[in-house]
Amino acid sequence: MEKILVLDFGGQYNQLIARRVREQSIYAEIKPYNKITVDEIVAEGYKGVIFTGGPNSVYDPASPHFDPAILDAGVPVLGICYGCQLMAYMAGGMVESAEDSSEYGKIDVYAQKNVLFTDVPSKSICWMSHRDYIPHPPKGFTTIAVTDKCPVAAMCDESRKLYGVQFHPEVTHTEYGKHILHNFLYDVCGCAGDWRMDNFIDDTVRELREKIGDKGVVLGLSGGVDSSVAAALISKAVGRQLTCVFVDQGLMRKNEGDFVEETFTKLFDMNFVRINCQDEFLTKLKGLTDPEDKRTVIGTEFYNVFWNKIRESYGSGFFAQGTIYPDRIESGKGDASKIKTHHNQVGVPKDIHFEDVIEPLKDLFKDEVRAVGEKLGLPHDLVWRQPFPGPGLGVRVIGEVTAERVRILQEADAILRDEMDKCGYAKEMSQFFAVLPGVKTVGVMGDSRTYSELVAIRAVTTDDFMTADWAKIPYDILGRVSNRIINEVDKVNRVVYDITSKPPGTVEWE
Ligand code: XMP
Repeated sequence: MEKILVLDFGGQYNQLIARRVREQSIYAEIKPYNKITVDEIVAEGYKGVIFTGGPNSVYDPASPHFDPAILDAGVPVLGICYGCQLMAYMAGGMVESAEDSSEYGKIDVYAQKNVLFTDVPSKSICWMSHRDYIPHPPKGFTTIAVTDKCPVAAMCDESRKLYGVQFHPEVTHTEYGKHILHNFLYDVCGCAGDWRMDNFIDDTVRELREKIGDKGVVLGLSGGVDSSVAAALISKAVGRQLTCVFVDQGLMRKNEGDFVEETFTKLFDMNFVRINCQDEFLTKLKGLTDPEDKRTVIGTEFYNVFWNKIRESYGSGFFAQGTIYPDRIESGKGDASKIKTHHNQVGVPKDIHFEDVIEPLKDLFKDEVRAVGEKLGLPHDLVWRQPFPGPGLGVRVIGEVTAERVRILQEADAILRDEMDKCGYAKEMSQFFAVLPGVKTVGVMGDSRTYSELVAIRAVTTDDFMTADWAKIPYDILGRVSNRIINEVDKVNRVVYDITSKPPGTVEWE
């Protein structure tokens, strides 16, 4: 299979670059700049390398650099933003910094005739975000695009197949970014485009059959997209040799546990084991109000319930997980400080000995996982399910979690989802849900005073959940949701809408 290396210098768009390459039917993987050598790049047979952007200046001693031998290794390179400056620097050229040369946002770019700009007009819009710039192309390179402020907006050394662009072709604001990447991948690197989801399914099913043989596989199913698609794929490969264990801790949305059970028992050939254990979870959560304590208890309890079941009957053969590519990518920059503990990956206890761990989706991005899920016949609602925190409603019932408060939240959340689906607005949202803040307020119903729970509505739009905007849901939809929640959900007398973006808020309230 053809592959492209995205060499990460700490830029914020590293995953986006790899996704854009894959959208062109070519497999791309991301590696930090300091975790691979030029010899390894050549030996691995990469068809091309893309240097990402990065926050540094090439003259900063702390800035990430790479072995200049890559420029003569015979592998095509495309440098983007910092990656372009680094290429100039490595080729012996100059990079300068000047306040009045910085460009940010949509900028007109003037492109010359060049293989990189096939089908790109001589004037178009590109997305720029830089302060440093390249005043002259380095020896052996020629300028192939300029902007009003940037004398080298793109450059190339055709003989060595080295290309650099100061702007970001991977973001949609660059009008012809897709064409530019296509030209680099197909016309410079000579790719043919063999990365297709149908091939992926066929190849993976064949590999799974070979690996698993006649042994058993056990998979922890959460009802989320990743573990569901992994289950569907393994079921296609080995049918009833697969056992899915679904721990229903009673903290899912209304009817969700039943939906998951119905989907996997009716649509797929596998053993399905559901463990209903809301009571055990609620007992452990009794009296706890601190979000991190609740997360720890839910994570630990999940671990215990799940592995105790495995110990009973399934502790041999293979263990499968729905790990996806972004779970594994190592970044070219340090980790951000921890805001919340996420308990998604389940380690295998020392006393359980599987032959191996199987992660059939480990190389896929989320949109690819969804495409595979659709092709395997998973219900649309499951494939396009919004993210749902591992601790479930446990972190949306603020304060102590009780059966009654979970029920109230499930009812309110179901109404919100119903209204958002009915008006078609759900598709516009990245994530929306109800929260029970644990605040009681005074109200009046009929002629009587009420003193009941408050429900908050949270809805956000985002590309990556690292930052998010609060969603501008039309007032009439919010009005209908509020009316229905107060009329239909016992013990709720007030609804509010959360208008906090992230940052400073987080998406979840806990
Ligand atoms: P925050 O609240 O950190 O959420 O802005 C960002 C995204 O992560 C989800 N989230 C979690 N997912 N376990 C998870 O699997 C967790 O503990 C958890 N906490 C937050 C959240 O729903 C949002 O999509």
